[in-house]
Amino acid sequence: MSATATRTTTLANYWHPIARSEDVVEQPKQFELLGEKICAFRTEAGVSAFKDLCIHRGTALSLGWVTEGRITCAYHGWQYDQTGACVTIPSLPKGATIPAKARAVAYRAEERYGLVWVALSDPVAPIPAFPEWDDPGFRAFLSATYVWKSSAGRTVENFMDVSHFPFVHEGLLGTREQTEVAATNVLETEHGLTYYYEQEEPNELYSGPGQVTRWDYALYTPFTIHLRKTIPNGEQTVITLMSAPTSPKLTHMYFFIARNHHQEDEDATWKEFSDKIMEQDRAIVESQRPEEIPTDLREELHLKVPDASGIAYRRILGAIDQVGAFMP
Ligand code: FES
Ligand code: CO
Repeated sequence: MSATATRTTTLANYWHPIARSEDVVEQPKQFELLGEKICAFRTEAGVSAFKDLCIHRGTALSLGWVTEGRITCAYHGWQYDQTGACVTIPSLPKGATIPAKARAVAYRAEERYGLVWVALSDPVAPIPAFPEWDDPGFRAFLSATYVWKSSAGRTVENFMDVSHFPFVHEGLLGTREQTEVAATNVLETEHGLTYYYEQEEPNELYSGPGQVTRWDYALYTPFTIHLRKTIPNGEQTVITLMSAPTSPKLTHMYFFIARNHHQEDEDATWKEFSDKIMEQDRAIVESQRPEEIPTDLREELHLKVPDASGIAYRRILGAIDQVGAFMP
């Protein structure tokens, strides 16, 4: 038997959004992911994301500028190409050899769904799917970005949780007359989890009293969650949260809405409804301690049926090193 080298998967082995596409421009800017400062900028070749550190004297590369696809450090003018190789050191004579160690750390960077995605280490999964974004049958838009003082795991678990509706979102997503949560079958998929509920929504926007909405959830490990609401006449609304682990206690959230109905109506109607819900959730989630989601199921208290999705989610997160990804 041959010994297979195993390595621990960390959050750095996944793609995460760092910004909206329009926030990454030719002028380099600093962003943050997993506690790591990132310098991102745009050239003709697309977006680049470097560790925000010049190897010469540790200056932030985001203080520099871009010319002809290369980033120049603001301190002594070293220039790095898109691969991170240093190609010019102005203080050396022309033609002098540039040390091979003179490199910036270049991360993988891609644009998808109007966001810039970065993977700090070799990704173990693709960027999460979001088929409605490109589906002409759907009108999809980025409804909001939020910054919450909590971990990405807490923000996603809250989105997956239904037993809080009658309390946090009374009159909008639930009522105190109907608090019991039905059993659901949480299935593991290639990308994460799926499960669904059928429930009445007391709001008029999605269904109205007496009408049952089917809620299909699809988690893309670790921090993307889609919720597809389907009402009996076939109208579908997909509500998507993509949370980015900025640091252990800070999360940047990208919130999308896609609908196959009422496409001529104002997006603001859907945005305002979601903003209200999310503001109700924010107060709760930012109060949770510890801010980091416990992935050991012996911590906190789990109810088998109402918390089925949260239990499955914490198992998934428990297999990923949550701490190791955050840089000191
Ligand atoms: Fe960047 Fe000197 S610190 S060139
Ligand atoms: Co909520």
